[in-house]
Amino acid sequence: TAIEAGNLPLAGRHVLITSGPTHEPIDPVRYIANRSSGKQGHALAKAAFEAGARVTLVSGPVTLPDPANVNVIHVESASAMLAAVESNLPADIAIMAAAVADWRVASEGTQKIKKDGSGRPPALELTENPDILATIGHHGSLRPKLLIGFAAETQNLIDNARGKLERKKADWIVANDVSPETGIMGGDANTVRLVSRTGVEDWPELDKTEVARRIIERAAEALAVK
Ligand code: CTP
Ligand code: CA
Repeated sequence: TAIEAGNLPLAGRHVLITSGPTHEPIDPVRYIANRSSGKQGHALAKAAFEAGARVTLVSGPVTLPDPANVNVIHVESASAMLAAVESNLPADIAIMAAAVADWRVASEGTQKIKKDGSGRPPALELTENPDILATIGHHGSLRPKLLIGFAAETQNLIDNARGKLERKKADWIVANDVSPETGIMGGDANTVRLVSRTGVEDWPELDKTEVARRIIERAAEALAVK
């Protein structure tokens, strides 16, 4: 029957997803992070399982419970996220929904940085983190058949998304406007635009679980004709 696992659209497929923020330590008590609830990435993992896939979810620190029936790997930093992603390839579909911190402190302190009484803050030297999406986009034979990134922007949404599509060699970028007035950050709804090499599709405002279901449905269709 149609509900047997073998007939689900992603049966036999491996889907690899990143979700949540990363935390980049400054010293033992402080970190740099992006804002991210992990709701969209975790919803994608659930939707992929429900479509019949074997799912690996590499998650930064979030307060959400682990989705059921998913192999969840918990990481803190971008470097650890990249290592977990690479060690879980190959994948048929990879969806990089994590809000990865762009920078980390060049040399993490082993002791808590103390105020020195001068009133002057410490100078933190930052260094750029590896780009996980771009790294696996350029992976050659280990590149997933379908590679999907996100782009959270506050301006020039489509231009920025197209630039990321090309630079990172993704197939699709799920672009969303995260200007504070949209209220998207941390909420349950998302208004996204699906940017591919063939055009831009505007989706209506939907619950993040419904955005996830539609992305997975579209991904399964795209994979079936690849
Ligand atoms: N991404 C990633 N690793 C990074 C940074 C970003 O995998 N170090 C992924 C995100 O998970 C997302 C996509 O790349 O799928 C776009 O992330 P974004 O932060 O919008 O792109 P950046 O290239 O970091 O550009 P920006 O300067 O706009 O932050
Ligand atoms: Ca970034």
